[in-house]
Amino acid sequence: MADEQTFIAIKPDGVQRGLVAPIISRFEQKGYKLVGIKLTQPTKTLLEEHYADLTAKPFFPGYVFFLLIGNMLSGPVCAMVWEGKDVVKTGRVLLGATNPLAAGPGTIRGDFAIDVGRNVCHGSDSVESAKKEIGLWFKKDELVTYTPTIFKWIY
Ligand code: RTP
Repeated sequence: MADEQTFIAIKPDGVQRGLVAPIISRFEQKGYKLVGIKLTQPTKTLLEEHYADLTAKPFFPGYVFFLLIGNMLSGPVCAMVWEGKDVVKTGRVLLGATNPLAAGPGTIRGDFAIDVGRNVCHGSDSVESAKKEIGLWFKKDELVTYTPTIFKWIY
């Protein structure tokens, strides 16, 4: 069975603050494998599709959705696919709580952010949404499948 994959995005605020490398490091240091990455300027259509489930949530205010789309359109996003055991759930743990003020120290949002509207990153919340989001942001040939060969030359 293929390893689990998740979609992780560094939002425009994270890219503009120079947090691409530190965020990638958290996933690499944990032991996950990067299988897709690109810097891309998302369209409004893509974002509305990406966040379609939020409009169905009665407790998610329309003005917050409007602000969220505006923030996500404000610059390039670093879109990534990470692979490994339980990566969807553990990816969310590495990100920390949605509200950075509630996110624990040692998490990305806990260490790097304050405002919920500028919480520097996004991570899929289920295996099902990861599949949907990966399909939305990446073409099949933009993802790489490989088996690390490091154990042949690290002793
Ligand atoms: P994400 O999708 O970005 O990983 O975040 P999430 O599942 O933890 O949170 P969700 O409820 O899906 O919210 C999506 C994004 O909307 C922004 N937000 N702002 N101002 C507010 O009260 C508020 N609430 C949510 C956040 O940027 C959140 O990541």
